[in-house]
Amino acid sequence: MTTTDLTVRYSRRVALRHERLYGHGYQGPGAEGVFAELTDRLDLRSGLRLLDIGSGLGGDSFRLAERHGLTVVGLDAAPDMTAVCVERAAEQALSGVSFVTGDVRTTELLAPDAFDVLWTRDCGAFVPPADKLPAWQRLYDALRPGGQVLVTDYCLGPQGASAEFAAKMAAWGQYMLTPDAYGAMLGEAGFVDVVVEDRSVHLMESMLEGRRLLLDERDSFLEEMTAQEYDGLLDRWDRKIGFCARGELVWMVLTARRAQS
Ligand SMILES: C[S@@+](CC[C@H](N)C(=O)[O-])C[C@H]1O[C@@H](n2cnc3c(N)ncnc32)[C@H](O)[C@@H]1O
Repeated sequence: MTTTDLTVRYSRRVALRHERLYGHGYQGPGAEGVFAELTDRLDLRSGLRLLDIGSGLGGDSFRLAERHGLTVVGLDAAPDMTAVCVERAAEQALSGVSFVTGDVRTTELLAPDAFDVLWTRDCGAFVPPADKLPAWQRLYDALRPGGQVLVTDYCLGPQGASAEFAAKMAAWGQYMLTPDAYGAMLGEAGFVDVVVEDRSVHLMESMLEGRRLLLDERDSFLEEMTAQEYDGLLDRWDRKIGFCARGELVWMVLTARRAQS
């Protein structure tokens, strides 16, 4: 997706609408149990410098700074996302977390050894195929030796994409890899101990909960949007649930690290 497309897709209005379905601060699976499962995979200690790439509405950035004492920088290409996060950080007078508008492909934040942890949730699929490996090579250089990586992302199931799914991916501006190809790409970028796991169960639970909310709170949603927009949102959720149920859409968790030397 181009930065202009992301500005539209992740406008304040659209993101706040989706946040109602995913949970406060999130544009994807944001349940407490999911967050705990992800943080349990890393060795997080107070004072570590973490870059949250594609931080969205900041759910993880805030939790990581508040609960784990990390110094977090949230990076997002969509200006509305960082604006909402800056407002929320100011309302809560939070320290240890800051937000920067920028594209992972070009940001100047990626100075050598600038971070101890790279954390990115459901962002990589938006990066076009030719830019993915170069982006991870830049991220590798920005991670200090011994540093840790956690990725969740939308991926293609092993049987590939049906014509319907391929068309939707194109419409959503996403370019998905299989988890194995994703892992191999991080290996090619230089990372070691790369482990990928299919945790689609979390995406499915999150989408089903969002669908339940859409139906239970229909009248309230219709106060904020037209009937056509409501139907479009329900259709989007139903399609994603269907793709996930058929195994075409996989929600991957990946961990890796940069070798000590
Ligand atoms: C699906 S949302 C996930 C947001 C958040 N990580 C979460 O889990 O709630 C993807 C986010 O990645 C951002 N994004 C997409 N491509 C990006 C890029 N090239 N550089 C930085 N951010 C990007 C989008 O603007 C969006 O906020």
